[in-house]
Amino acid sequence: MNELGFFKNPTQITYGMGAIQRGLRGIIDGNQFKNVLIITDKGILKAGLVDQITNQLGDLNYAIYDETQSNPTVKNCEEAKTNLMEINADVVVAIGGGSSIDVAKAVCLLATNDGSINDYEGIDQFKNDLLPLVAIPTTAGTASEVTNFTVITDEERQYKLTVGGVRLSPKWALVDPLVTKSLPPSITAETGLDALVHAIESYTSKMATPISKTLAREAIRKISANLRQAVFNGDNLVARDNMLMGSLLAGLAFNNTRLGNCHALSHPISAIYGVAHGVTNSILIPHIMEFNAPAVPELFSDIAEDMGENMEGLTLMERAEAAVQAVKKLSKDIKIPSDFSSFNMDESQIDRMAIDAMKSGNIAVNPRITRYEDVVNLYKKAIGGAELARV
Ligand SMILES: NC(=O)c1ccc[n+]([C@@H]2O[C@H](COP(=O)([O-])OP(=O)(O)OC[C@H]3O[C@@H](n4cnc5c(N)ncnc54)[C@H](O)[C@@H]3O)[C@@H](O)[C@H]2O)c1
Ligand SMILES: [Fe+2]
Repeated sequence: MNELGFFKNPTQITYGMGAIQRGLRGIIDGNQFKNVLIITDKGILKAGLVDQITNQLGDLNYAIYDETQSNPTVKNCEEAKTNLMEINADVVVAIGGGSSIDVAKAVCLLATNDGSINDYEGIDQFKNDLLPLVAIPTTAGTASEVTNFTVITDEERQYKLTVGGVRLSPKWALVDPLVTKSLPPSITAETGLDALVHAIESYTSKMATPISKTLAREAIRKISANLRQAVFNGDNLVARDNMLMGSLLAGLAFNNTRLGNCHALSHPISAIYGVAHGVTNSILIPHIMEFNAPAVPELFSDIAEDMGENMEGLTLMERAEAAVQAVKKLSKDIKIPSDFSSFNMDESQIDRMAIDAMKSGNIAVNPRITRYEDVVNLYKKAIGGAELARV
């Protein structure tokens, strides 16, 4: 029986080559916005992408906040809020990867709700509706342009907090593959793998529905068939287009299902060691898939099929294992590190990270029941390698 609990997508999406040129000025004029805060980072500015926004703003009053860090911080949100108040912004335009869009979501929340972003951890912990946000993704990765979450690092606590709620979704998303052409190979690789992890975790989530599963499977197909080309031939617009659409579909899916153990374990690593989100997920995902496969081998078998594996004559468990191998191979082909050995980690932080990981709403929807001890063991395997795994 096809049972559908719910499916939400509050964001109005304009997709395609030239979507920014087609969409932005119409949104601004149609809503009579006068003062615009642009939120971005230095890399986007250097790539010349912010010009595509300012060229369209003409006579309007605008300011640019470009100090966003990867794994953006509470401080980024506070600085951008000061800029917002200085120009009395009535709309925010975010152009960048998940980091810039997440700062923008936090700032739109803080524009209408007092205090620090730290006060709003969890779902729907804020009272007032947000300032409107136009989100323009430049990575095919997080899909923050359509999700109702923002992930911010509190540097003092070395903790990544998630703030969520349907009203946190951007009002508009302008999703244009042309702006992803300037992504360097390494960032294409790690953000693309993040998008694949979103699709895999959404597909196997306990909250998956027929609609979210359809979106997640198509995302897996698109990403696994195009990521290598996007990394090694960044000018290939067909690959860029399929990657961005794959990332978007995965985002629409996981926005409804949440994710799983990989994202739960990933945030504490990024918060403490500063490892990029996509890299952390890429290294963790094979360990998480191996842990989850016995619980839902039929779902992992589907993933192997969508990744183009030859499954002839294989048992169900072998087909599930083929999905793990397919992800490992893709990761290796696009030159993502296969372990954390170059990041100077040790086991001293594992208990603390496991406590933080258990706070994530993603553990509850993971397909295999996961306890604190499981999280500790998964960290030992992923961080400590073979030696610690024997402990
Ligand atoms: N809100 C959500 O739903 C959600 C989901 C997953 C991850 N996240 C968060 O998103 C953040 C990661 O975002 P990300 O992976 O998109 O990376 P990012 O935004 O941190 O960007 C990474 C780097 O890529 C550069 N870059 C981005 N696009 C470029 C382009 N087109 N050309 C040249 N350079 C470009 C940036 O300047 C930056 O240096 C993490 O903090 C993660 O926790 C949020
Ligand atoms: Fe992610």
